[in-house]
Amino acid sequence: MDQVVNYIKSNNNNYIEELKEYLRIPSVSTLSEHKPDMQKCAKFVAGKLRDAGLSKVKIIKTEKHPLVYGEWMGAPGKPTVLIYGHYDVQPVDPIELWTNPPFEPTIVGEEIYARGANDNKGQNLVHIKSVEAFFKTGKKPPVNVKFLIEGEEEVGSESLEKFLKTEKKLLACDAVLISDTSLYKKGVPTINYGLRGLCYMEVEVTGPNRDLHSGSFGGSVANPINELAKIIAKFHDKNGKITIPNFYADVKKLTKKEKENIKNLKFSDKAFAKELKVKELQGEKNYSTLERLWVRPTLDCNGIIGGFTGEGAKTVLPSKASAKISMRLVPDQDPKKIAKEFEKYVKSITPKSVAIKVTAMHGGLPVVIPLESKAMQAAAKATSKAFGKKTVFTREGGSIPIVVEFVKQLNAPAILMGLGLDTDDIHSPNEHFNLKSFELGILSSAYFLDEFSKI
Ligand code: BES
Ligand code: ZN
Repeated sequence: MDQVVNYIKSNNNNYIEELKEYLRIPSVSTLSEHKPDMQKCAKFVAGKLRDAGLSKVKIIKTEKHPLVYGEWMGAPGKPTVLIYGHYDVQPVDPIELWTNPPFEPTIVGEEIYARGANDNKGQNLVHIKSVEAFFKTGKKPPVNVKFLIEGEEEVGSESLEKFLKTEKKLLACDAVLISDTSLYKKGVPTINYGLRGLCYMEVEVTGPNRDLHSGSFGGSVANPINELAKIIAKFHDKNGKITIPNFYADVKKLTKKEKENIKNLKFSDKAFAKELKVKELQGEKNYSTLERLWVRPTLDCNGIIGGFTGEGAKTVLPSKASAKISMRLVPDQDPKKIAKEFEKYVKSITPKSVAIKVTAMHGGLPVVIPLESKAMQAAAKATSKAFGKKTVFTREGGSIPIVVEFVKQLNAPAILMGLGLDTDDIHSPNEHFNLKSFELGILSSAYFLDEFSKI
Protein backbone atom coordinates (compact mmCIF):
# COMPACT_ATOMS: atom_id res chain seq x y z
CA MET A 1 0.00 0.00 0.00
CA ASP A 2 2.94 2.35 0.57
CA GLN A 3 3.43 2.99 -3.11
CA VAL A 4 -0.24 3.70 -3.65
CA VAL A 5 -0.33 6.03 -0.66
CA ASN A 6 2.76 7.90 -1.84
CA TYR A 7 1.39 8.17 -5.34
CA ILE A 8 -1.85 9.69 -4.03
CA LYS A 9 0.00 12.13 -1.79
CA SER A 10 2.30 13.30 -4.55
CA ASN A 11 -0.50 13.76 -7.07
CA ASN A 12 -2.73 15.94 -4.97
CA ASN A 13 -2.28 19.03 -7.14
CA ASN A 14 -3.23 17.15 -10.28
CA TYR A 15 -6.33 15.84 -8.57
CA ILE A 16 -7.35 19.37 -7.64
CA GLU A 17 -7.00 20.47 -11.27
CA GLU A 18 -9.17 17.57 -12.39
CA LEU A 19 -11.76 18.44 -9.79
CA LYS A 20 -11.81 22.03 -11.05
CA GLU A 21 -12.47 20.80 -14.58
CA TYR A 22 -15.34 18.64 -13.31
CA LEU A 23 -16.77 21.59 -11.37
CA ARG A 24 -16.75 23.85 -14.42
CA ILE A 25 -19.52 21.80 -16.01
CA PRO A 26 -22.86 23.28 -14.89
CA SER A 27 -24.69 19.97 -14.55
CA VAL A 28 -27.89 21.20 -12.93
CA SER A 29 -30.28 18.28 -13.31
CA THR A 30 -33.53 20.06 -12.54
CA LEU A 31 -33.22 22.77 -15.22
CA SER A 32 -33.93 21.73 -18.82
CA GLU A 33 -31.61 24.40 -20.21
CA HIS A 34 -28.70 22.40 -18.75
CA LYS A 35 -29.53 19.18 -20.59
CA PRO A 36 -26.47 19.53 -22.87
CA ASP A 37 -24.30 20.09 -19.78
CA MET A 38 -25.64 16.87 -18.32
CA GLN A 39 -24.50 15.00 -21.43
CA LYS A 40 -21.14 16.76 -21.28
CA CYS A 41 -20.71 15.89 -17.63
CA ALA A 42 -21.61 12.23 -18.20
CA LYS A 43 -18.95 12.12 -20.92
CA PHE A 44 -16.45 13.74 -18.58
CA VAL A 45 -17.11 11.13 -15.90
CA ALA A 46 -16.88 8.29 -18.42
CA GLY A 47 -13.51 9.70 -19.54
CA LYS A 48 -12.29 9.78 -15.95
CA LEU A 49 -13.34 6.17 -15.42
CA ARG A 50 -11.50 5.12 -18.56
CA ASP A 51 -8.39 7.06 -17.52
CA ALA A 52 -8.57 5.39 -14.13
CA GLY A 53 -8.14 2.00 -15.78
CA LEU A 54 -11.72 0.74 -15.74
CA SER A 55 -13.15 -1.26 -18.61
CA LYS A 56 -16.64 -1.62 -20.06
CA VAL A 57 -17.18 2.07 -19.44
CA LYS A 58 -20.52 3.12 -20.85
CA ILE A 59 -22.91 6.00 -20.83
CA ILE A 60 -26.40 4.64 -20.39
CA LYS A 61 -29.25 6.69 -21.79
CA THR A 62 -32.32 7.04 -19.62
CA GLU A 63 -35.61 8.92 -19.84
CA LYS A 64 -33.92 11.89 -18.17
CA HIS A 65 -30.17 12.09 -17.60
CA PRO A 66 -27.55 9.46 -18.49
CA LEU A 67 -26.01 7.02 -16.05
CA VAL A 68 -22.30 6.31 -16.22
CA TYR A 69 -21.05 2.79 -15.56
CA GLY A 70 -17.60 1.23 -15.51
CA GLU A 71 -16.06 -1.87 -13.98
CA TRP A 72 -12.90 -3.81 -13.39
CA MET A 73 -13.50 -7.43 -12.51
CA GLY A 74 -9.91 -8.62 -12.47
CA ALA A 75 -9.79 -9.93 -8.93
CA PRO A 76 -11.51 -13.33 -9.07
CA GLY A 77 -12.36 -14.76 -5.68
CA LYS A 78 -12.20 -11.31 -4.12
CA PRO A 79 -15.20 -9.24 -3.05
CA THR A 80 -16.83 -6.67 -5.33
CA VAL A 81 -17.52 -3.10 -4.36
CA LEU A 82 -20.05 -0.93 -6.18
CA ILE A 83 -19.10 2.73 -5.90
CA TYR A 84 -22.01 5.11 -6.31
CA GLY A 85 -22.09 8.88 -6.70
CA HIS A 86 -23.90 11.60 -8.62
CA TYR A 87 -22.61 14.13 -11.13
CA ASP A 88 -25.72 16.30 -11.05
CA VAL A 89 -25.84 19.41 -8.90
CA GLN A 90 -28.42 21.72 -7.41
CA PRO A 91 -29.39 25.03 -9.01
CA VAL A 92 -27.28 28.02 -7.99
CA ASP A 93 -29.90 30.60 -7.12
CA PRO A 94 -29.79 33.04 -5.39
CA ILE A 95 -26.76 33.69 -7.59
CA GLU A 96 -26.18 37.18 -6.20
CA LEU A 97 -25.16 35.66 -2.87
CA TRP A 98 -22.15 33.83 -4.36
CA THR A 99 -18.81 35.48 -3.71
CA ASN A 100 -17.34 33.80 -6.79
CA PRO A 101 -19.24 32.47 -9.83
CA PRO A 102 -20.58 28.98 -8.95
CA PHE A 103 -19.04 27.28 -11.97
CA GLU A 104 -15.66 28.96 -11.74
CA PRO A 105 -14.04 26.93 -8.96
CA THR A 106 -12.05 29.13 -6.61
CA ILE A 107 -9.65 28.04 -3.90
CA VAL A 108 -9.55 30.08 -0.72
CA GLY A 109 -7.25 28.67 1.93
CA GLU A 110 -8.01 24.96 2.30
CA GLU A 111 -11.45 25.21 0.65
CA ILE A 112 -12.57 24.88 -2.94
CA TYR A 113 -15.72 26.87 -3.73
CA ALA A 114 -18.11 25.84 -6.51
CA ARG A 115 -21.55 24.32 -6.93
CA GLY A 116 -21.06 20.56 -6.55
CA ALA A 117 -17.69 20.86 -4.77
CA ASN A 118 -19.00 18.75 -1.88
CA ASP A 119 -22.32 17.49 -3.31
CA ASN A 120 -21.15 15.41 -5.00
CA LYS A 121 -18.35 15.91 -7.50
CA GLY A 122 -15.56 16.31 -4.95
CA GLN A 123 -16.76 13.28 -3.03
CA ASN A 124 -17.14 10.94 -5.99
CA LEU A 125 -13.93 11.93 -7.75
CA VAL A 126 -12.15 10.69 -4.60
CA HIS A 127 -13.01 7.08 -5.44
CA ILE A 128 -12.13 7.35 -9.11
CA LYS A 129 -8.69 8.65 -8.14
CA SER A 130 -8.13 5.96 -5.54
CA VAL A 131 -8.83 3.16 -8.00
CA GLU A 132 -6.60 4.90 -10.55
CA ALA A 133 -3.72 5.05 -8.07
CA PHE A 134 -3.55 1.24 -7.99
CA PHE A 135 -3.19 0.99 -11.76
CA LYS A 136 -0.76 3.91 -11.99
CA THR A 137 1.61 2.31 -9.52
CA GLY A 138 1.72 -0.86 -11.59
CA LYS A 139 -0.63 -2.69 -9.27
CA LYS A 140 -4.19 -3.75 -9.63
CA PRO A 141 -7.08 -2.94 -7.35
CA PRO A 142 -7.20 -5.61 -4.62
CA VAL A 143 -10.96 -6.12 -5.12
CA ASN A 144 -13.39 -6.03 -8.03
CA VAL A 145 -14.71 -2.56 -8.63
CA LYS A 146 -17.89 -1.28 -10.26
CA PHE A 147 -18.75 2.39 -10.63
CA LEU A 148 -22.20 3.83 -11.09
CA ILE A 149 -22.43 7.61 -11.24
CA GLU A 150 -25.89 9.02 -11.90
CA GLY A 151 -27.29 12.37 -13.01
CA GLU A 152 -30.60 12.49 -11.19
CA GLU A 153 -29.84 12.23 -7.48
CA GLU A 154 -30.95 15.78 -6.81
CA VAL A 155 -34.24 15.17 -8.60
CA GLY A 156 -35.21 11.81 -7.13
CA SER A 157 -33.09 9.11 -8.91
CA GLU A 158 -36.08 7.85 -10.90
CA SER A 159 -34.07 6.47 -13.83
CA LEU A 160 -31.58 4.74 -11.56
CA GLU A 161 -34.37 3.15 -9.57
CA LYS A 162 -35.70 1.57 -12.76
CA PHE A 163 -32.21 0.55 -13.92
CA LEU A 164 -31.51 -1.06 -10.57
CA LYS A 165 -34.59 -3.25 -10.85
CA THR A 166 -33.60 -4.67 -14.23
CA GLU A 167 -29.80 -4.74 -13.81
CA LYS A 168 -29.36 -6.56 -10.54
CA LYS A 169 -26.85 -8.92 -12.13
CA LEU A 170 -24.71 -6.16 -13.59
CA LEU A 171 -24.69 -4.33 -10.27
CA ALA A 172 -24.27 -7.39 -8.03
CA CYS A 173 -21.75 -6.62 -5.29
CA ASP A 174 -20.72 -7.30 -1.71
CA ALA A 175 -20.95 -3.68 -0.58
CA VAL A 176 -21.98 -0.31 -1.98
CA LEU A 177 -19.54 2.48 -1.21
CA ILE A 178 -20.90 6.03 -1.21
CA SER A 179 -19.40 9.35 -0.23
CA ASP A 180 -22.28 11.82 -0.27
CA THR A 181 -22.61 12.63 3.41
CA SER A 182 -20.65 14.40 6.13
CA LEU A 183 -17.80 13.96 8.55
CA TYR A 184 -18.83 14.42 12.15
CA LYS A 185 -16.25 17.21 12.37
CA LYS A 186 -13.32 18.31 10.26
CA GLY A 187 -10.49 15.80 10.62
CA VAL A 188 -12.66 13.15 12.31
CA PRO A 189 -13.01 9.98 10.25
CA THR A 190 -16.69 9.11 10.03
CA ILE A 191 -18.89 6.32 8.82
CA ASN A 192 -22.58 7.21 8.62
CA TYR A 193 -24.94 4.35 9.29
CA GLY A 194 -28.29 6.01 8.85
CA LEU A 195 -30.14 8.44 6.62
CA ARG A 196 -33.50 10.01 7.16
CA GLY A 197 -36.28 9.47 4.66
CA LEU A 198 -38.35 12.17 3.07
CA CYS A 199 -41.95 13.01 2.32
CA TYR A 200 -42.33 16.22 0.33
CA MET A 201 -45.77 17.83 -0.01
CA GLU A 202 -47.31 20.90 -1.54
CA VAL A 203 -50.37 22.60 -0.07
CA GLU A 204 -52.37 25.12 -2.05
CA VAL A 205 -55.08 27.25 -0.46
CA THR A 206 -57.60 29.08 -2.63
CA GLY A 207 -59.95 31.77 -1.39
CA PRO A 208 -61.91 34.18 -3.58
CA ASN A 209 -61.87 33.60 -7.33
CA ARG A 210 -59.48 36.54 -7.98
CA ASP A 211 -57.14 38.94 -6.20
CA LEU A 212 -59.16 41.59 -4.37
CA HIS A 213 -58.61 45.10 -3.02
CA SER A 214 -57.77 44.52 0.63
CA GLY A 215 -59.76 47.59 1.63
CA SER A 216 -62.92 46.85 -0.31
CA PHE A 217 -62.91 43.18 0.63
CA GLY A 218 -60.62 42.74 3.66
CA GLY A 219 -62.70 41.50 6.58
CA SER A 220 -65.37 39.92 4.43
CA VAL A 221 -63.67 36.82 3.06
CA ALA A 222 -60.87 34.51 4.14
CA ASN A 223 -57.35 35.49 3.14
CA PRO A 224 -55.59 32.34 1.82
CA ILE A 225 -52.22 33.46 3.18
CA ASN A 226 -53.66 33.95 6.67
CA GLU A 227 -55.37 30.56 6.52
CA LEU A 228 -52.27 28.81 5.20
CA ALA A 229 -50.22 30.37 8.00
CA LYS A 230 -52.72 29.04 10.55
CA ILE A 231 -52.51 25.57 9.05
CA ILE A 232 -48.70 25.64 9.15
CA ALA A 233 -48.77 26.89 12.74
CA LYS A 234 -50.88 23.88 13.74
CA PHE A 235 -48.33 21.28 12.60
CA HIS A 236 -46.37 21.49 15.88
CA ASP A 237 -47.55 21.60 19.48
CA LYS A 238 -45.84 23.57 22.22
CA ASN A 239 -43.37 20.76 22.85
CA GLY A 240 -42.24 20.66 19.23
CA LYS A 241 -44.15 17.43 18.55
CA ILE A 242 -45.80 17.05 15.17
CA THR A 243 -49.58 17.02 15.54
CA ILE A 244 -50.52 14.88 12.54
CA PRO A 245 -52.41 11.83 13.88
CA ASN A 246 -50.41 8.57 13.68
CA PHE A 247 -47.31 10.47 12.56
CA TYR A 248 -45.13 8.75 15.15
CA ALA A 249 -46.89 5.37 14.99
CA ASP A 250 -44.03 3.59 13.20
CA VAL A 251 -41.09 5.45 14.72
CA LYS A 252 -38.62 2.99 16.20
CA LYS A 253 -37.38 3.65 19.68
CA LEU A 254 -33.74 4.47 20.07
CA THR A 255 -31.70 1.54 21.44
CA LYS A 256 -29.65 2.00 24.57
CA LYS A 257 -26.47 1.38 22.60
CA GLU A 258 -27.29 4.07 20.11
CA LYS A 259 -28.25 6.55 22.77
CA GLU A 260 -24.91 5.88 24.38
CA ASN A 261 -23.02 6.30 21.08
CA ILE A 262 -24.71 9.65 20.45
CA LYS A 263 -23.94 10.81 23.96
CA ASN A 264 -20.29 9.85 23.55
CA LEU A 265 -19.96 12.13 20.53
CA LYS A 266 -20.19 15.04 22.98
CA PHE A 267 -22.01 17.37 20.64
CA SER A 268 -21.80 21.03 21.60
CA ASP A 269 -25.11 22.87 21.31
CA LYS A 270 -23.32 26.06 22.11
CA ALA A 271 -20.81 25.82 19.27
CA PHE A 272 -23.57 24.73 16.88
CA ALA A 273 -25.75 27.72 17.77
CA LYS A 274 -22.79 30.04 17.52
CA GLU A 275 -21.86 28.83 14.05
CA LEU A 276 -25.44 29.43 12.89
CA LYS A 277 -25.61 32.79 14.66
CA VAL A 278 -28.77 31.92 16.61
CA LYS A 279 -29.24 32.68 20.30
CA GLU A 280 -30.92 29.41 21.04
CA LEU A 281 -31.61 26.07 19.37
CA GLN A 282 -35.14 24.75 19.04
CA GLY A 283 -36.85 21.43 18.47
CA GLU A 284 -38.73 18.52 19.96
CA LYS A 285 -38.64 18.55 23.74
CA ASN A 286 -36.76 15.85 25.65
CA TYR A 287 -34.41 14.97 22.79
CA SER A 288 -30.82 16.10 22.34
CA THR A 289 -29.86 18.03 19.23
CA LEU A 290 -28.21 15.03 17.58
CA GLU A 291 -31.23 12.89 18.38
CA ARG A 292 -33.47 15.54 16.83
CA LEU A 293 -31.27 15.64 13.75
CA TRP A 294 -30.71 11.95 13.25
CA VAL A 295 -33.31 9.77 14.90
CA ARG A 296 -36.44 11.92 15.15
CA PRO A 297 -38.75 12.91 12.30
CA THR A 298 -39.39 16.56 11.44
CA LEU A 299 -41.75 18.78 9.50
CA ASP A 300 -40.53 21.98 7.87
CA CYS A 301 -41.99 24.54 5.55
CA ASN A 302 -39.41 24.96 2.76
CA GLY A 303 -41.08 27.74 0.84
CA ILE A 304 -44.21 29.79 0.89
CA ILE A 305 -45.74 31.51 -2.07
CA GLY A 306 -48.51 34.06 -2.22
CA GLY A 307 -49.60 37.63 -2.58
CA PHE A 308 -47.51 40.67 -3.27
CA THR A 309 -43.79 40.27 -2.67
CA GLY A 310 -42.41 42.98 -4.95
CA GLU A 311 -40.87 46.28 -4.00
CA GLY A 312 -42.95 48.73 -2.02
CA ALA A 313 -46.51 48.13 -0.84
CA LYS A 314 -49.58 46.96 -2.70
CA THR A 315 -52.86 46.47 -0.92
CA VAL A 316 -54.17 43.15 -2.09
CA LEU A 317 -56.07 40.22 -0.73
CA PRO A 318 -54.68 37.33 -2.78
CA SER A 319 -56.75 34.58 -4.29
CA LYS A 320 -54.19 31.84 -3.67
CA ALA A 321 -51.32 30.86 -1.39
CA SER A 322 -49.22 27.74 -1.30
CA ALA A 323 -46.44 26.13 0.70
CA LYS A 324 -43.86 23.40 0.10
CA ILE A 325 -43.49 21.19 3.12
CA SER A 326 -40.93 18.50 3.77
CA MET A 327 -41.02 15.85 6.43
CA ARG A 328 -37.79 14.03 7.25
CA LEU A 329 -38.61 10.48 8.28
CA VAL A 330 -36.94 7.83 10.40
CA PRO A 331 -37.30 4.03 10.52
CA ASP A 332 -39.92 2.58 10.11
CA GLN A 333 -41.95 5.50 8.80
CA ASP A 334 -43.23 5.11 5.26
CA PRO A 335 -43.48 8.24 3.08
CA LYS A 336 -46.63 7.00 1.32
CA LYS A 337 -48.42 6.39 4.58
CA ILE A 338 -47.23 9.71 6.01
CA ALA A 339 -48.41 11.58 2.89
CA LYS A 340 -51.91 10.15 3.39
CA GLU A 341 -52.01 11.09 7.07
CA PHE A 342 -50.73 14.56 6.21
CA GLU A 343 -53.43 15.12 3.61
CA LYS A 344 -56.18 13.87 5.91
CA TYR A 345 -55.01 16.13 8.72
CA VAL A 346 -54.61 19.25 6.57
CA LYS A 347 -58.11 18.78 5.18
CA SER A 348 -59.51 18.33 8.67
CA ILE A 349 -58.09 21.65 9.90
CA THR A 350 -58.93 23.74 6.84
CA PRO A 351 -61.92 26.09 7.32
CA LYS A 352 -64.81 25.99 4.85
CA SER A 353 -64.02 29.55 3.76
CA VAL A 354 -61.14 28.31 1.56
CA ALA A 355 -60.49 25.38 -0.76
CA ILE A 356 -57.42 23.21 -0.33
CA LYS A 357 -55.33 21.05 -2.61
CA VAL A 358 -52.66 18.71 -1.23
CA THR A 359 -50.10 17.13 -3.55
CA ALA A 360 -47.42 14.57 -2.72
CA MET A 361 -44.26 15.60 -4.59
CA HIS A 362 -41.66 12.95 -3.84
CA GLY A 363 -40.44 10.76 -1.09
CA GLY A 364 -37.85 8.28 0.06
CA LEU A 365 -37.52 5.67 2.75
CA PRO A 366 -35.23 6.12 5.75
CA VAL A 367 -32.43 3.64 6.29
CA VAL A 368 -30.26 2.33 9.09
CA ILE A 369 -27.35 0.07 8.23
CA PRO A 370 -26.12 -2.49 10.78
CA LEU A 371 -22.64 -1.77 12.06
CA GLU A 372 -21.62 -5.38 12.35
CA SER A 373 -20.91 -6.22 8.70
CA LYS A 374 -17.32 -6.89 7.67
CA ALA A 375 -17.53 -4.20 5.00
CA MET A 376 -18.55 -1.67 7.62
CA GLN A 377 -15.67 -2.65 9.88
CA ALA A 378 -13.24 -2.52 6.95
CA ALA A 379 -14.45 1.01 6.17
CA ALA A 380 -13.98 2.13 9.76
CA LYS A 381 -10.47 0.73 9.76
CA ALA A 382 -9.66 2.37 6.43
CA THR A 383 -10.86 5.86 7.37
CA SER A 384 -9.08 5.58 10.68
CA LYS A 385 -5.80 4.76 8.88
CA ALA A 386 -6.19 7.67 6.47
CA PHE A 387 -7.11 10.27 9.08
CA GLY A 388 -4.89 8.91 11.85
CA LYS A 389 -7.75 8.89 14.35
CA LYS A 390 -10.46 6.61 15.64
CA THR A 391 -13.50 6.48 13.34
CA VAL A 392 -16.83 7.62 14.72
CA PHE A 393 -20.21 6.30 13.66
CA THR A 394 -22.92 8.84 13.00
CA ARG A 395 -26.32 9.05 11.38
CA GLU A 396 -27.35 11.79 8.97
CA GLY A 397 -30.26 14.18 8.92
CA GLY A 398 -30.28 14.30 5.10
CA SER A 399 -31.61 11.74 2.63
CA ILE A 400 -30.32 9.67 -0.27
CA PRO A 401 -33.43 7.69 -1.22
CA ILE A 402 -31.61 5.31 -3.59
CA VAL A 403 -29.56 3.86 -0.72
CA VAL A 404 -32.47 1.77 0.59
CA GLU A 405 -33.00 0.45 -2.92
CA PHE A 406 -29.36 -0.62 -3.17
CA VAL A 407 -29.56 -2.40 0.16
CA LYS A 408 -32.82 -4.14 -0.74
CA GLN A 409 -32.24 -4.98 -4.41
CA LEU A 410 -28.57 -5.93 -4.16
CA ASN A 411 -28.72 -7.38 -0.68
CA ALA A 412 -25.48 -5.63 0.21
CA PRO A 413 -24.58 -3.20 2.99
CA ALA A 414 -24.18 0.46 2.03
CA ILE A 415 -21.05 2.10 3.35
CA LEU A 416 -21.59 5.81 3.75
CA MET A 417 -18.08 7.21 3.90
CA GLY A 418 -19.00 10.84 4.45
CA LEU A 419 -16.29 13.35 3.57
CA GLY A 420 -18.14 16.66 3.49
CA LEU A 421 -19.04 18.91 6.37
CA ASP A 422 -22.54 20.03 7.30
CA THR A 423 -21.15 23.57 7.14
CA ASP A 424 -20.09 23.22 3.47
CA ASP A 425 -23.24 25.02 2.31
CA ILE A 426 -24.46 22.33 -0.04
CA HIS A 427 -27.64 23.39 -1.92
CA SER A 428 -26.81 26.94 -0.85
CA PRO A 429 -24.67 29.82 -2.16
CA ASN A 430 -20.90 29.41 -1.75
CA GLU A 431 -20.86 25.63 -1.56
CA HIS A 432 -17.37 24.45 -0.72
CA PHE A 433 -15.32 21.37 0.06
CA ASN A 434 -12.23 21.04 2.19
CA LEU A 435 -9.24 20.02 0.10
CA LYS A 436 -7.62 18.19 3.00
CA SER A 437 -10.78 16.07 3.26
CA PHE A 438 -10.50 15.52 -0.49
CA GLU A 439 -6.99 14.13 -0.12
CA LEU A 440 -7.77 12.10 3.00
CA GLY A 441 -10.85 10.83 1.17
CA ILE A 442 -8.76 9.44 -1.66
CA LEU A 443 -6.52 7.74 0.89
CA SER A 444 -9.54 6.40 2.82
CA SER A 445 -10.93 4.96 -0.37
CA ALA A 446 -7.62 3.29 -1.25
CA TYR A 447 -7.29 1.85 2.26
CA PHE A 448 -10.85 0.63 2.04
CA LEU A 449 -10.17 -1.35 -1.14
CA ASP A 450 -7.20 -2.91 0.65
CA GLU A 451 -9.09 -3.70 3.87
CA PHE A 452 -12.10 -4.94 1.93
CA SER A 453 -9.90 -7.44 0.08
CA LYS A 454 -9.04 -9.05 3.43
CA ILE A 455 -12.55 -9.77 4.63
N1 BES B 1 -25.71 14.79 -0.41
C1 BES B 1 -27.09 15.00 -0.10
C2 BES B 1 -27.54 14.19 1.11
C3 BES B 1 -27.05 14.78 2.39
C4 BES B 1 -27.57 15.96 2.86
C5 BES B 1 -26.08 14.17 3.12
C6 BES B 1 -27.11 16.50 4.03
C7 BES B 1 -25.60 14.73 4.28
C8 BES B 1 -26.12 15.89 4.75
C9 BES B 1 -27.95 14.65 -1.30
O1 BES B 1 -27.38 15.07 -2.51
C10 BES B 1 -29.27 15.37 -1.16
O2 BES B 1 -29.28 16.56 -1.27
N2 BES B 1 -30.36 14.65 -0.91
C11 BES B 1 -31.67 15.23 -0.89
C12 BES B 1 -32.64 14.15 -1.27
C13 BES B 1 -33.85 14.62 -2.02
C14 BES B 1 -33.56 15.43 -3.25
C15 BES B 1 -34.74 13.45 -2.37
C16 BES B 1 -32.01 15.78 0.48
O3 BES B 1 -31.56 15.27 1.51
O4 BES B 1 -32.72 16.79 0.53
ZN1 ZN C 1 -27.72 17.26 -2.72
